Amino acid sequence: MKLPQTLETKRLSLRQPVAEDAALIFKQYAQDPEVAKYTVWQPHQSIEETHKWVSRCISVWVDASAFPYVLIRKEDAQLIGMVEIRFNNFKADLGYVLAKSEWGKGYVPEAVQVLTGWALEQDEIYRVWAVCDLENPASARVMEKVGMQREGILKRWIIHPNMSKEPRDCYCYAVSK
Ligand SMILES: CC(C)(COP(=O)(O)OP(=O)(O)OC[C@H]1O[C@@H](n2cnc3c(N)ncnc32)[C@H](O)[C@@H]1OP(=O)(O)O)[C@@H](O)C(=O)NCCC(=O)NCCS
Repeated sequence: MKLPQTLETKRLSLRQPVAEDAALIFKQYAQDPEVAKYTVWQPHQSIEETHKWVSRCISVWVDASAFPYVLIRKEDAQLIGMVEIRFNNFKADLGYVLAKSEWGKGYVPEAVQVLTGWALEQDEIYRVWAVCDLENPASARVMEKVGMQREGILKRWIIHPNMSKEPRDCYCYAVSK
C-alpha cells in the first residue's frame, strides 16, 4: 500500500509526522488525561515519551505497518491532532485524537472522511472500520458522521488503561463497498 504523504481537506492538511512535532504533540494533547481517557496509551509524563511515540510514528511509515498523519490546521498552521490508518489485506482500520481545545469543531470527521475516502478508492480495499469504548460517545459520533454503520459490540475487545486494567467492550463501526 502506497499512501500519499499529505492529504488535504477544506480546513486541514494531513502530513507525515516528523521528529520536530514531538514538542507540540506533547503540549497540545499527549500529556492531557482527558484526551487519553479512552485511548490505548497513558498520558505522557515527559517529552521523552512523546519523542519515542513520534519515532514510532516515523518508523511505522517505513515498515508500512501503520500510517499516522498529524493534523495541521491551515488557518494558523497549528498542529491539533493525529489520525492513523492501518491496512490488513482488504481491510483498513482507523484511530484518531485531537487536542481538547479543538473538540466539537468537526475537525476529526473531516480528516477521517478524507482518509476513509482515499482507502475505499483503492481497488483492493473493501472495508474501513474502527472501534470506540462504549463510554466514548464523541468518538462514536465521528464514525457516524463519516457514514460508518454501528455493527455491534465487541466484547472485551481492547484495554483502555486509563479506565481499567481489564479489556473493555467496544462499539465496532465500519463502512464497506
Ligand atoms: C473523539 C474526538 C476525536 C472527536 O473529534 P472532534 O473533531 O471533536 O469531533 P466532532 O467535532 O465531530 O464532535 C464529535 C462529538 O464530540 C462531542 N463533543 C463536542 N464538543 C465536545 C466537548 N467540548 N467535550 C466533549 N465532547 C464534545 C459531541 O458529542 C460531538 O457530537 P455532535 O457534533 O453530534 O454534537 C475527540 O473528542 C477526541 O480527541 N477525544 C479524545 C481521544 C479519543 O477518544 N479518541 C478516540 C479513541 S476511539
